[in-house]
Amino acid sequence: MPTAVSLFSGCGGSDDGLRAAGFDVLMANDVLAYARDLYTENFGGTEYVLKDIRQIKHFPSADLLIGCYPCQGFSQAGVRQPDRNINFLYREFVRALRLIKPKAFVVENVSGMVREDNFHLFQNQVVRFRTSGYRVRSAILDARHFGVAQERRRLFFVGIRSDLGETYEFPHPTHRLPGEEPSSLPQCPTIKDAIGDLPAWPEGEIDVQPFHWYYLSRNRYRGWDEQSKTIVASSRHAPLHPSSPKLLRVHTDKWIFESDAPARRISYREAARLQGFGDLRFPETQGIASRYRVIGNAVPPPVFKAVAAALPDVW
Ligand SMILES: C[S@@+](CC[C@H](N)C(=O)[O-])C[C@H]1O[C@@H](n2cnc3c(N)ncnc32)[C@H](O)[C@@H]1O
Repeated sequence: MPTAVSLFSGCGGSDDGLRAAGFDVLMANDVLAYARDLYTENFGGTEYVLKDIRQIKHFPSADLLIGCYPCQGFSQAGVRQPDRNINFLYREFVRALRLIKPKAFVVENVSGMVREDNFHLFQNQVVRFRTSGYRVRSAILDARHFGVAQERRRLFFVGIRSDLGETYEFPHPTHRLPGEEPSSLPQCPTIKDAIGDLPAWPEGEIDVQPFHWYYLSRNRYRGWDEQSKTIVASSRHAPLHPSSPKLLRVHTDKWIFESDAPARRISYREAARLQGFGDLRFPETQGIASRYRVIGNAVPPPVFKAVAAALPDVW
């Protein structure tokens, strides 16, 4: 079984996909205690190092290195500040890459990285990967194409060590989106497929803060037969549950509910399902904001599985 080291592992979305693709994850790492708690509660057998990556000096040797470094500075959801320190954690990933020298690596990040104001950082990463000895490809993938009931476009870098003489090809979609040309591919699942069997109003699992003006500055609603809007880390900005009334646009950045029927955000458990996780056990060590946060930060496991399974057999 090929081995992997995972950095910026969060609660384990990427690593769950990696295991499903047949990898043994030797080490995971993050600074967030609740990410570690959720990971170790649900995915045993991996050493989880709870530490700032900058303090880790030694890594196990492995065939594959993966990392989904944070993205606040590039993200539509976060503050767009391309010069924030957090945006330079990719250098830590490259440090680990040069120490471990795995046969391949996979990185996931927000698609905003390729926007004009961040493009120098995108290019800088490519240069560092190449000068570390890897042939690098990148692509933006939409989770819906891989059977996840959520619109989530993310950038992936995949590198294969140059001496192996292989070039990576990204996986073809396994699912068809609504409106795409008919093909033999199955339709992408809907919100109903993903969460339709869960309780209608799961007390204690929903962020019930009022819907403030910023929340209502855009459409947060999707119906049962659609795919979810992107699940983000902030519980306050979780999409509406489809049982809520629809939102109507009354001004450029202003939406109102079409009726007074009860409205709610999706719960953190529903968010996990819409991210493509199986049913997770949520430890009681922290409250609901932390649960939404680590789930919203995660890579949908089916997407990571597809990317890892498409790696050439260089092991
Ligand atoms: C995009 S999330 C990773 C998601 C994860 N791969 C998953 O699929 O669940 C980025 C992670 O980087 C972690 N992080 C931020 N700064 C860090 C640091 N200095 N050292 C280690 N981890 C850090 C965050 O806590 C966050 O969990």
